[in-house]
Amino acid sequence: MKERLQAIKEEAITKIKNAEDMDILNEIRVEILGKKGQLTEVLKGMKDVAPEERPKVGQLVNDTRKAIEEKMEEVREKLAAKAREAKLKAEVIDVTLPAKKNKVGHKHPNTLALEELERIFVGMGYEVVEGPEVEFDYYNFEALNIPANHPAKDEQDTFYINKNIVLRTQTSSVQARVMENTKPPIRIVSPGRVFRSDQVDATHSPSFHQIEGLVIDRNVTMADLKGTLEQFAKELFGKDTQIKFRPHHFPFTEPSAEVDVTCFKCGGKGCRFCKGEGWIEILGCGMVHPHVLEMSGIDPNEYQGFAFGVGLERIALLKYEIDDMRLLYENDDRFLNQF
Ligand code: DAH
Repeated sequence: MKERLQAIKEEAITKIKNAEDMDILNEIRVEILGKKGQLTEVLKGMKDVAPEERPKVGQLVNDTRKAIEEKMEEVREKLAAKAREAKLKAEVIDVTLPAKKNKVGHKHPNTLALEELERIFVGMGYEVVEGPEVEFDYYNFEALNIPANHPAKDEQDTFYINKNIVLRTQTSSVQARVMENTKPPIRIVSPGRVFRSDQVDATHSPSFHQIEGLVIDRNVTMADLKGTLEQFAKELFGKDTQIKFRPHHFPFTEPSAEVDVTCFKCGGKGCRFCKGEGWIEILGCGMVHPHVLEMSGIDPNEYQGFAFGVGLERIALLKYEIDDMRLLYENDDRFLNQF
């Protein structure tokens, strides 16, 4: 038995010394000290040893185990140190490499245009209010003098939630909401998303944005409307900008007009940008129809007002010289990074 133990010890120590990594070392541990290991086998043979010999043999087995364990520990430490060193080498940090850049987002051209518009109107004393995108047919049409079956409804076909509720086609829907619960003077702009069942092309989208303006007070005239829009156009497109009113029809204003500005590229001479016109259409406006005032509980004999509606995308496209509205919605980095 003594020789057997000696042999086990020698073989184990040689194997341990040659172990190249922790895995091999663990295998050796199982093979020799494990439940079915060689040393355990020897212990099982103790029952065949004469009782008076047993303490001596027991001692011998323990010594052998101890010697093997010590060697193992020694080699384990060496291997661990080696592994640590290799890891450090592999993970070396090159502090001279340029840092990874964080991608910082920025404002969308629509947002930039909106903030510019809000800045101009807030500067003139307007308050910014918002209305719901899912709107009663009443506020979107009826209260704006567009009763059921009015032909103007055709031009603004939209998405119906049910017979009485639609996705609003215009921010003009906010007009009646504001008039119903505000005592004049009223001076608001209301930006927001609107919807129409339009096909997508370079100038149309089923969802876009408008900014509505509404002013109600005593003695408000068309001159106030003109002065306001002229000031607005000059601030937005430059101080030499001129505006032109073209007669138009909107059911909720009387008289109504569409407003053009002199092309800020050519100053009105006519160029590619304004398609040779010298003028660019920017908004619709007019004096609030007395019936619209009445329906919202404002006495038209006491108060008058004007309203206007601007397409936000239209302004963004003009201001940043973008020739296709679809670019605003595609989220293409190469486009967005230019702003
Ligand atoms: N809501 C109109 C549209 O979407 C634009 C508009 C025209 C608004 C005249 C107004 C207005 O407030 O007075 O076409």
